[in-house]
Amino acid sequence: RSLGYVLGIETSCDDTGIAIVDTDGKVHANVLESQQEFHTRYGGIIPPRAQDLHRSRIAHAYERCLSEANVEPSQLSAIAVTTRPGLPLSLLIGLRFAKHLARKNKKPLLPVHHMEAHALQARMEHITAIGYPYLCLLISGGHSQLALVRGPGQLTLLGDSLDDAPGEAFDKIARRLRLFVLPKYRLWNGGRAIEDAAKSAQNPNAYDFPRPLAQQRNCNFSFAGIKNNSFRAIRMRELLERTPCDGVISNYNDFCAGLLVAVSRHLMNRTQRALEFCLHPHQNLFGDAPPTLVVSGGVANNDVIFANISHLALQYNCRTYRPSKGYCSDNGVMIAWHGVEQLLHDCANNLRYDYDNIDIA
Ligand code: KG4
Ligand code: ZN
Repeated sequence: RSLGYVLGIETSCDDTGIAIVDTDGKVHANVLESQQEFHTRYGGIIPPRAQDLHRSRIAHAYERCLSEANVEPSQLSAIAVTTRPGLPLSLLIGLRFAKHLARKNKKPLLPVHHMEAHALQARMEHITAIGYPYLCLLISGGHSQLALVRGPGQLTLLGDSLDDAPGEAFDKIARRLRLFVLPKYRLWNGGRAIEDAAKSAQNPNAYDFPRPLAQQRNCNFSFAGIKNNSFRAIRMRELLERTPCDGVISNYNDFCAGLLVAVSRHLMNRTQRALEFCLHPHQNLFGDAPPTLVVSGGVANNDVIFANISHLALQYNCRTYRPSKGYCSDNGVMIAWHGVEQLLHDCANNLRYDYDNIDIA
């Protein structure tokens, strides 16, 4: 039943990811070149620099991918590439390269929506457990969404972020806390550093955080309040301690633990609303399938958040899954897997060779 190999190319932000996955979900190669070290030095991503780095690395990443998988280009069934959403300059590099490969090897090109790829990724490893439709909580550096997933290209958005995404808030707060001056965290993202720091907390209730949108009867998200409140608290501590500007404030472990509780609480509150909506007896959007929740995107790496969400879902007899650690964050595997889903679900008669008509966004 195998339909062969799909190559996936991801360049929507600051990671150059190229992978080969077969239609049974086996990963044959997974090359990921992170730009984190470079961007950390400049305090954030500068789009033209990110583009340069993608451009200089992509061909080499592709060669490494083929040799890791021991696959010839002629053996590929299709080439999948992220076309949206993302930084336009970065997306363009991946798309141009994908078009070049598709043309040269006469392969169909499958455009992939980055967030949809996050949403489908957990099926690669749990295809029998996660049948359509399922509820998906997508939490990353750029998004915070709840969606009912019925298949590739068939997502119904139930809630969206009104301002900052949770990963973005973690990254900015970690920077203000100056966690990145600690050698251990130098090359980590903010969310991971905060999760690790929280493990050494003595008192997670030492700081107060707001409860955004608690009274609103919808599934939207807002992290700006928690973020700004965090900035204020950090500023206060700095004033109190008169810390030299290269030091980390004291009590940062307690602060991180409190922040994780606040973010979990908000995500749980919104997810609970979505579960009640989906399970409402008048509509039961899960149909006959057992209710299933998937948490994905970079923030799904967080064990505290995942445990809290799983615990909530269990109260609704809903099972919760996430992709395994390496596959929650951006990578080429999720793009290749979305390509596989397209092959399995349509689309064999929909294969696209009209490369010129495929564009970003
Ligand atoms: O999905 P992703 O790799 O890229 C986007 O599409 O945005 O997500 C990156 C985000 C970063 O903001 C990072 O801080 C967050 O995921 N992240 C985490 C953890 N690992 C990565 N947030 C919380 N806890 C983690 N362990
Ligand atoms: Zn992502």
